[in-house]
Amino acid sequence: MRNVWRNTSRFAGLVASVLILVVVIAAWTRSPAAPRAGAAPAAPRRGDVLRGRYSVITHDCAGCHGGTNPAAQGWLAGVTSPEMEFKIGPFTTRPRNLTPDNGTGLGRFTERQIFNALRYGLRPEDTPDVVITSRTPGQGNFPEHPHYLAVPMPWTAWRYMPEQELWDMAAYLKRGLKPVSNKVLDSEGPPDFWASEYTDEKYGGAQPPAFPTANEQKP
Ligand code: HEC
Repeated sequence: MRNVWRNTSRFAGLVASVLILVVVIAAWTRSPAAPRAGAAPAAPRRGDVLRGRYSVITHDCAGCHGGTNPAAQGWLAGVTSPEMEFKIGPFTTRPRNLTPDNGTGLGRFTERQIFNALRYGLRPEDTPDVVITSRTPGQGNFPEHPHYLAVPMPWTAWRYMPEQELWDMAAYLKRGLKPVSNKVLDSEGPPDFWASEYTDEKYGGAQPPAFPTANEQKP
């Protein structure tokens, strides 16, 4: 009887030790709280910058923003000749300088402002550095009267990219490029800052349509 009792208590002791160990390990390895939507991830690491470089190159941002490859003259430095401008109806629009120059490029803006430009199409110059949680004007920090980036900046496509990919591109533009001083004249545009253009169905509307649409099917 005594043996049984001794074995049982030894067994209970073992179970208790294992339980304590599990709790300690769980507390140790617990992943940090999930970041709020639109909140900047922790300081970007080198990997983020290189992934951002890959996304910028493969999405041909330079096709409009300048340069033919990362070693070429004018890489992402914005309009340097009139052929790089766009004529959209009566308006001339101009791809901006995406290098981190403080006076003429993205140096003036935070990575979150760049993120908000790519995800929501909001002009960093006119949009405060805030976490945006809604696509409805006036709600969740989305501006009541949004100033959108001029056509043909394809943010209505970039908004489908995973959030991390957008942050990686912002990290590359701010930290992985040398600043180039190149002043690009402001784009022209309609008084509503393209709002009626972008809420049009041809761009998918203000809220990007969920999968599957009428053209798609569940695999
Ligand atoms: C088809 C041409 C085109 C492509 C491709 C393009 N952009 Fe643009 N982008 C523009 C134009 C035009 C503007 C200027 C909009 C304005 O002045 O309102 C712009 C503006 C921007 C801005 C705002 C800069 C500022 O100072 O206000 C950012 C950021 C940006 N683009 C990033 C990108 C990135 C990143 C890519 C690739 C993933 C990209 N663009 C691809 C045409 C383009």
